[in-house]
Amino acid sequence: MIEIEQGASDFSTLGLIPMPLTIEEGAHGFPIYKDTYIKTSDSTELLLQMAQFTAEKIFQHSGLSLDINPLNPSGTAIELELTPTEENEGDTTENNLDPNTTGEAYGIWVGKSVLKITSAQPSGLFRGIQTFRQLIPNLATTIDNKPVWEVPGGNIEDAPNYAFRGAMLDVARHFFTVQEVKRYIDLLAYYKINILHLHLTDDQGWRIEIKKWPKLTEVGGKKEVGGGPGGFYTQAQYKDLVAYASKHYMTIIPEVDMPGHTNAASVAYPFLNGNGKTPELYTGTEVGFSTWDANNEKVYDFVEDVVNEISALSPGPYFHLGGDESHVTKKPDYITFVNRVSEIVKQAGKTPIGWDEIVTADTDSSAIAQFWASEKNAGIAVQKGMKVILSPAKKAYLDMQYKEESPYGLHWAGYVPVDTAYIWTPETYAKGVPKELILGIEAPLWSETISNSDEIEYLAFPRLPGYAELAWSSPEKRDWNEYKGRLALQSLFFDRNKVNYYPSEKIDWVKPPIAPKTIGKD
Ligand code: ACM
Repeated sequence: MIEIEQGASDFSTLGLIPMPLTIEEGAHGFPIYKDTYIKTSDSTELLLQMAQFTAEKIFQHSGLSLDINPLNPSGTAIELELTPTEENEGDTTENNLDPNTTGEAYGIWVGKSVLKITSAQPSGLFRGIQTFRQLIPNLATTIDNKPVWEVPGGNIEDAPNYAFRGAMLDVARHFFTVQEVKRYIDLLAYYKINILHLHLTDDQGWRIEIKKWPKLTEVGGKKEVGGGPGGFYTQAQYKDLVAYASKHYMTIIPEVDMPGHTNAASVAYPFLNGNGKTPELYTGTEVGFSTWDANNEKVYDFVEDVVNEISALSPGPYFHLGGDESHVTKKPDYITFVNRVSEIVKQAGKTPIGWDEIVTADTDSSAIAQFWASEKNAGIAVQKGMKVILSPAKKAYLDMQYKEESPYGLHWAGYVPVDTAYIWTPETYAKGVPKELILGIEAPLWSETISNSDEIEYLAFPRLPGYAELAWSSPEKRDWNEYKGRLALQSLFFDRNKVNYYPSEKIDWVKPPIAPKTIGKD
């Protein structure tokens, strides 16, 4: 059995993001080498899958191919252990987002010959595995050049500050393929993001198949911003995305934006807009010009079909009904519409979420407001006892340009360089929104100016890890000057995985200590 010399490595060289709750340094590091194996505390499919995930990531990172539960083990052991206890058993379903019972707490214990990752719940074990991935030396080399990989000795105890840690992708302005969305999920999961909100419909395109209303995608999915061919997910493809997210302990929140942002659907079914005209597909980027008819029962029958079909494919607890920028919907019509659709969503067994404007309808604490622009609306949400998701555009919109010269993104809410994105305190940012009403944080990525994975990554990285930390780590753990050093180390992960990040000049990026020899991606 190989042993690591004392002090061969320590946690400060690793760049852990998000920062765990507590780290206690230990004397002896843990070696990973060819005889190291992965051991699971039982042989359920769930744990074996988790072990397989761990093995794949280690292989892609280092080239080491580790056995799972071998009959005759001889090397060091990475143990994955589920330890349910009566008081923290909680609800294991992915629908559960109660911060007290989501079971995302985990521990990592690193000894000389055993490295143990433990949690009461699979979701916690999965988050612990992400931390473990970050404990493996961040080198651009493989087993061929480096036979032993040292993990520093010690203990980590960790749990999230917020149960809701989200990212949103706009697949409507530009369409992104299943493969592109899966790649984003891979990267989000590494930073412990557990919500992917998909903005599935907008003026420019309708991106999800609805069996009862086939023209939504046949007609409404044909184009995208700039006039390109657009696209859509079949229900089978959407289900595949939901399942892929679920394997990463991530919940997909579907959004159908209404009553505004609905031009594409009205091109397919002109009765929806109530103005007697058939609009054309729109490939520009203006907002606020479309609405549905709030005074036609047929519109609500249609919405019910859409909400029911999508809800049946979405195991998560939420349905996002949009509700933003309905500038051509008369105020009383907007209120009627949001009230009616909120009820339809609840009838489908889901909790309604809407952009902050929805608080101007008769919403109550059974709906959730996503604060993006209006402090006043955030205040109304609080008065009504509604939970709030924090996505202030000036801080958390991933599509805001880093600076004037940035090739992608917009700047209507301002420029958001990497420090601006990180330096704010969710607990005090929206005046008057108390911590107990903050459900969590979400970083939306609108796609007017981006159309592929490289462009997604240019805007998301390096800002996304900061939002993940704002959502996971407690405020007293966060300090820009210290964080900057950990962020600088992400370049090694980004490079290994060919992430097209924006190399912000505010960060002193770390270059590979050993010449790259690419073997795959983790
Ligand atoms: C939004 O950015 N219109 C929610």
